[in-house]
Amino acid sequence: MGPGDLDQALKGLEIPHDPNVLVGFSGSEDAGVYKIDEDTAIVQTVDFFTPVVDDPRVFGMASAANSLSDVYAMGGRPITALNLVCFPVKKLGLDTLRSILDGGLEIMREAGVALIGGHSVEDDEPKYGLSVTGIVHPDRIMTNSGLKPGDRLILTKAVGTGIIATALKAGLASEASIDAMTRSMCAINKAASEVAIRFDVKGCTDITGFGLAGHVVEMAKGGRSRIRIKAAAVPLLEGARDAASMGLIPAGAYANRKFFGSWITVDAGVATEVADLIFDPQTSGGLVLGIQADKAEAFLKALIAEGVTAAAEIGEVLEADPEGHVEIS
Ligand code: CO
Ligand code: CO
Repeated sequence: MGPGDLDQALKGLEIPHDPNVLVGFSGSEDAGVYKIDEDTAIVQTVDFFTPVVDDPRVFGMASAANSLSDVYAMGGRPITALNLVCFPVKKLGLDTLRSILDGGLEIMREAGVALIGGHSVEDDEPKYGLSVTGIVHPDRIMTNSGLKPGDRLILTKAVGTGIIATALKAGLASEASIDAMTRSMCAINKAASEVAIRFDVKGCTDITGFGLAGHVVEMAKGGRSRIRIKAAAVPLLEGARDAASMGLIPAGAYANRKFFGSWITVDAGVATEVADLIFDPQTSGGLVLGIQADKAEAFLKALIAEGVTAAAEIGEVLEADPEGHVEIS
């Protein structure tokens, strides 16, 4: 399935109305939020996918980090998780599955999340992920529609996991780039989210399958604004630019460019391989956050002090725009 397919399939179906649903289907938010009382809301999300790397443990870690990310993107604190497993046990064996689950558990331990159950089905193609529940104060929810004109845009991880994974499959990825991709995919967005809450950030999303450009379009549409991405300022994973120059571009990057094309203009001065990286679908990517211009420097310093060392200012929200547009220049 590609971008927008699930939305299309849901179109016309009646979704029951519930006043306690603070964030539901109406926008393109990262997770749903349901109000329990004045001080507490639960954040719920589910994500699972096919292996992005051969090492089962690394796959488990990356997928778990990715599943937790949608809760962090909403400003929530994940507390419980359920394993979701599709797996050909007879073909790949229980040891491989155990390694995937062990990788997932390591990430849950790091995040302070309790694993409380799961579900598995026999399937020819392995898939793994988590359904995650978190909590958030109803007034502190971050959304992808929360950006305001003048906000500076901060990205907390370098991009390029899709392109490096494509190079890896072709046997053309350097050790250094594989290492950079692995470390980035397995890093959780906990510290970045906590710093954002401390700075009262309102606009946030995490970068996954739609790529940096697609997710920023969602922010521009949700916040009804025009956003500029400064291409030269976008942090790139080691080796990602080389791989992109060799044309090792995943199909998803082209799908993103096509699907989001009518909201995006790419300046002629932007190098093709950099544009490809901005459209590259990410596995367990970073957060994109909006922060008032006068707080941007302190915010970046705080992120880096908390170990979010790739954090960089990559653009700004220009002005109100009812349709929402993104310019990459
Ligand atoms: Co998300
Ligand atoms: Co998601």
